[in-house]
Amino acid sequence: MTLEFALTRNEQPAADDVRQGVLDEPGFGRHFTDHMVSIDWTAEGGWQNARVEPYGPLQMDPASAVLHYGQEIFEGMKAYRRADGSVWTFRPDQNAQRMQRSAARLALPQLPEQDFLEAVRQLVEVDEAWVPSGGENSLYLRPFMIANEVFLGVRAAQTVRFMVIASPAGPYFAGGVKPVSIWLSREYNRAGKGGTGAAKCGGNYAASLLPTQLAVAQGCAQVLFLNEEGTDLEELGGMNVVLVKSDGTLITPDSDSILDGVTRNSLLQLAEDAGHRVERRPVTLAEWRDGVADGSITEAFACGTAAVLTPIAALKSTDEVIGDPDAPAGPVATALRAQLTDLQYGRAEDPHGWMVQL
Ligand code: COI
Repeated sequence: MTLEFALTRNEQPAADDVRQGVLDEPGFGRHFTDHMVSIDWTAEGGWQNARVEPYGPLQMDPASAVLHYGQEIFEGMKAYRRADGSVWTFRPDQNAQRMQRSAARLALPQLPEQDFLEAVRQLVEVDEAWVPSGGENSLYLRPFMIANEVFLGVRAAQTVRFMVIASPAGPYFAGGVKPVSIWLSREYNRAGKGGTGAAKCGGNYAASLLPTQLAVAQGCAQVLFLNEEGTDLEELGGMNVVLVKSDGTLITPDSDSILDGVTRNSLLQLAEDAGHRVERRPVTLAEWRDGVADGSITEAFACGTAAVLTPIAALKSTDEVIGDPDAPAGPVATALRAQLTDLQYGRAEDPHGWMVQL
């Protein structure tokens, strides 16, 4: 049975000019819409009390489990406004299903896919005026789930809340789609075998913060993590990585300790549709280094919901620079990026039926 959502409208929504100011220059992750969705779960009663209510601070007991043991998962997705004013989202079923996989790993309850999709739809419907138009702006949607049981014992919480908040968003990186340099983390790993690397949980991102600080101190936009052995590529601090060979083949790490990116899967599918070969397999750092040196690797890019596709100009570390930090975006990355965004904004065919109108 699917949940019914109760709606309590925000009686003090942002003034039109304040909202317009945000939509004109949204930045990333700083401004939030007038409403939020919450659904509660208890071990005895299951999912209940689905509601859309005014956006605002949560009241939480300081002994809530999430504050101590980080039992939390989240998703990232976007709503896009097309030139005709209609609002669409991209493969929301993929986010719903990934959240179920993350929930399983973090011992959280699985929200049925239909309820996840309806929660997102309800929020976008009530806050439709917050979906930006023009450019590459969108309404970033952040579903998340927290363990809110008041208990300090270390075990899976018996009470949980699922929420969705929304934030008008421009480019994730300050420089827009300009190619970035990334920093190779040699001393820190993101995840280990059997860990939570494939789950979208806050802890993975917390673990990336110090290495990311070190990357930024080196003038890089993101950090690249290797596997535990220090040989194979894993992923960046908050997005996947793909290399492009001179023969057009795309290669990307296949590892059970990285996030199964919806954007990455979609870009690789579009690439295959366009006749590129795609290889999902372990990719060594040596392969990248040697490939750049002998010209057989011509491009690299980062991809994720927030970052879309961002070309990687160079990989830097204490002892080497792979690539040219001033290199412009390559043709494959540029074409794939345009194809994906054209599809998302309704300017191109959607051969796989990925777009869902809200
Ligand atoms: C996303 O791409 O949506 C993420 O969740 C990653 C984060 C860097 C914003």
